[in-house]
Amino acid sequence: FHMRGTLLKNPQKVDRFLCRTVRTVASAKSEVFHAGGHRSLSALQEERFQQAERSVLIGYHSRINEQTFLKNLSRHGDIKKYFFYESYGVYALVEFTNRESVASLLDEAVIPTCNHEATVPFKSRLLSVKNLDSADHLNLQLNQQFQPQTSMPINQLIKRLAKEKTMEQQLISLTEAYQLTEENSRLRFLVCSLIRDLASTYFPECTIKPFGSSVNGFGKLGCDLDMILDIDGTSISKVKPKSGLSMEFQLKRVSSERVVTQSMLSVIGESLDRFAPGCVGIQKILNARCPLLRFAHQPSGFQCDLTANNRVAVKSTELLYLYGELDPRVRFLVFTVRCWARVHNITSNIPGAWITNFSLTVMVLFFLQKRNPPIIPTLDHLKKLAGPADRSVVEGNDCTFVRDFSKVLLQKNSNTLEDLLREFFDFYATFPFSNMSINIRTGKEQHKPEVAPLHIQNPFESSLNISKNVNNSQLDRFIALCQETSWLLQQSETMIPRAGDQGDNPTPWGLASLLLPSQVVAVKSRKKRREPASERIKSLLESLKNTKSTKN
Ligand code: CTP
Ligand code: MG
Repeated sequence: FHMRGTLLKNPQKVDRFLCRTVRTVASAKSEVFHAGGHRSLSALQEERFQQAERSVLIGYHSRINEQTFLKNLSRHGDIKKYFFYESYGVYALVEFTNRESVASLLDEAVIPTCNHEATVPFKSRLLSVKNLDSADHLNLQLNQQFQPQTSMPINQLIKRLAKEKTMEQQLISLTEAYQLTEENSRLRFLVCSLIRDLASTYFPECTIKPFGSSVNGFGKLGCDLDMILDIDGTSISKVKPKSGLSMEFQLKRVSSERVVTQSMLSVIGESLDRFAPGCVGIQKILNARCPLLRFAHQPSGFQCDLTANNRVAVKSTELLYLYGELDPRVRFLVFTVRCWARVHNITSNIPGAWITNFSLTVMVLFFLQKRNPPIIPTLDHLKKLAGPADRSVVEGNDCTFVRDFSKVLLQKNSNTLEDLLREFFDFYATFPFSNMSINIRTGKEQHKPEVAPLHIQNPFESSLNISKNVNNSQLDRFIALCQETSWLLQQSETMIPRAGDQGDNPTPWGLASLLLPSQVVAVKSRKKRREPASERIKSLLESLKNTKSTKN
């Protein structure tokens, strides 16, 4: 069969297959230890970039025989890894052992002919299978395994959690079900690499790197793909001339860095819109504090944000990754709190006055710094441990912190995940939000420097509040939900696994019951029938007292 450039028309959404990813997890209990044996984020990213450059994305319409497909492709060289998935069509991501194989495959690919339309002849590593030999049609393979690229629906997750025997297992199981898979991570880097190919027609030395939840260890399957266009290679001269005449480029001058970023993103947005197959709905949001392009990449199913000149965000991604790797409890708690917040509409996919996942993550980190003894160190402590190679100043902000995990000594804290989750909700149910600010640099709450319902200091730009968008009513909803959840976790009927209830529809308990929308109301009304009136009034007064103390 032949390959041809992909031009997606009338994409149809296809049902997605879901399969469980298996991952072994370290024990959640930590002791004083060197957190060695971890790979740095930059080493991990480098490997993913290399893989991406040796990879192609191939769409196909009719079912194909896996063996015939692979045999055809291996004419161009050894295949290292491949997998199939569905997203507005069926795709295969294929990684070759050598980059030359990709060149050889592209050499053979043809421009498709269309009867009533014209094609834009922009060639990329996004291909389609053109035709199959008739023999292949007789040899269809029906059981092709598709790798999931979106997270399981909430009701399915609740069922899965209800089957677990302990709360600790529930938190681990939730993380395993939601975290990015190896395949999804490869797909994210491949999309960056495809966009880079296009951007490099203007800026040959540019790179496009993912940041945010795609790489910080807290990403959920289906989360957006944040990318940064880095033009370091083009803007800074690295080689010093030895002697004689030195040359410099003649360049156009504009009024500020911001204008440069805006015009670069603008032309890339224009090219994505006009030339790049699969990129649709391009919005140029160039007047934002951090200008960006927002678009959908249909072959991967990713919602993409492309920014430039946003290197502080890259540093905060590295920091979050480090915290997540220091102690396994960090990731389990963050995934759980993010999921809990999403099902109760504390966070939203639409931008607005909601608390964001980034803010929630920083709130979890702060809470873990406030344990006794602390589970993770403060950012100031990580800065003290930094060596000369870790030094980093971005746009006047000191972003220095140690990146070598083995230098970070943790204190012994044997709190269980169950305790920590309960304490998290207690902590924020009674946190003095009205006058205090959250600061992971010092690990201490501070008096708010400015008026805002929720104040969380940006770890690297101390004058910025990362939750500036949050309004009073959203904060109140968060506090009320923390109080209710904390209350639920004290009720024995939500906390005891149902014995002999291991069928297909086990009754949700523990973490599963915290994810049910009407649970608070349901448990309270069941309780009301049993509790004497005096008890109910007492608990009502108690909760009013709590609400008052946190709001004033
Ligand atoms: N960021 C920041 N300050 C903000 C918002 C975001 O520094 N006020 C940075 C953080 O490094 C964050 C990244 O930009 O991780 C991406 O932002 P966003 O997509 O909002 O958050 P994610 O962490 O990617 O979470 P999500 O899964 O919701 O996309
Ligand atoms: Mg994101």
